[in-house]
Amino acid sequence: MRTSYDVARLLVSLPRIVVKQRQAGRPKLVVRKPAARRHPDSWVDLEQCGASRPYVKTFEFESPYIGGYHSKIANATTRSDVKFGVDLGLDGFLAHAEALKVYELAYFGDGDFLELGTYRGLSTSIIARALHDRQRGALYTCDISPRFSLVARIALRFLPGRDRVRFHVGDAAGFLDRMIGERRRFGFVFVDHWHGYDATHAVGMRLSSLLLPGGFAMFHDYNDTSARDPAHPDKVFQAVRDTVGRSSSFQFCCVTASSAVFQFQPAAALPTERTTSYHELSVR
Ligand SMILES: C[S@@+](CC[C@H](N)C(=O)[O-])C[C@H]1O[C@@H](n2cnc3c(N)ncnc32)[C@H](O)[C@@H]1O
Repeated sequence: MRTSYDVARLLVSLPRIVVKQRQAGRPKLVVRKPAARRHPDSWVDLEQCGASRPYVKTFEFESPYIGGYHSKIANATTRSDVKFGVDLGLDGFLAHAEALKVYELAYFGDGDFLELGTYRGLSTSIIARALHDRQRGALYTCDISPRFSLVARIALRFLPGRDRVRFHVGDAAGFLDRMIGERRRFGFVFVDHWHGYDATHAVGMRLSSLLLPGGFAMFHDYNDTSARDPAHPDKVFQAVRDTVGRSSSFQFCCVTASSAVFQFQPAAALPTERTTSYHELSVR
């Protein structure tokens, strides 16, 4: 007998087939990648965490926005229930500046991407949209909650790029170990799951085994007043400082709203690694 969970899973898988058929025969888009630049002036020290940091471009594209969807993010209204939250029709906690940065890094990033913390699909939908707009790559998104993962699948079911998203349910560290075991590398990792020290530290320790040379890691809630409050469990700033911040293979790129971006630039070129191919995880 089919449960309502089975029916929901069936429903969310149907649009993918339609989208795949629609994409057949499309001319291939070539995304020209502009030069990248860093913003050392956007750095925050621990004592400054929570300071305002606007959106700054990592890639020097000429127009104010990359395209229609990037512009739509900039002009979106603010949610009535989340003080700073961009309203793109999905529940989540991204400020406009962060949503713009997620789209930018996903649009110009190389290969496939990883996301830790699917929640209800807001950031997932933005990355999916960038993958759709650039017409290549896949997003592997992980959440420990089966309920949120299902909510996100349903929320994304008719959105562009849905067919490029692979949902995984489980703890982030175990998921990353599996990706490392499969020798996968990614061009962009968005870290937005549990913001405690240990969980974020576990990710920071694994990033050099996960990122492609030149790949980006973006940490949500890095520039947050919680970092300065000893009683608060969220300690993204400290965990990043103690991992990628101590590695000469990572370069600071910028702080945008609550998020910090670092680029993986190992000194010596890595031996040829297999990058992720466009195939599905068995856990879908
Ligand atoms: C802040 S929300 C993510 C928001 C989402 N990225 C967005 O912008 O729309 C954090 C999510 O991380 C998930 N989470 C918490 N601990 C986790 C863990 N150890 N591994 C994977 N996911 C976890 C939670 O279930 C929750 O859905």
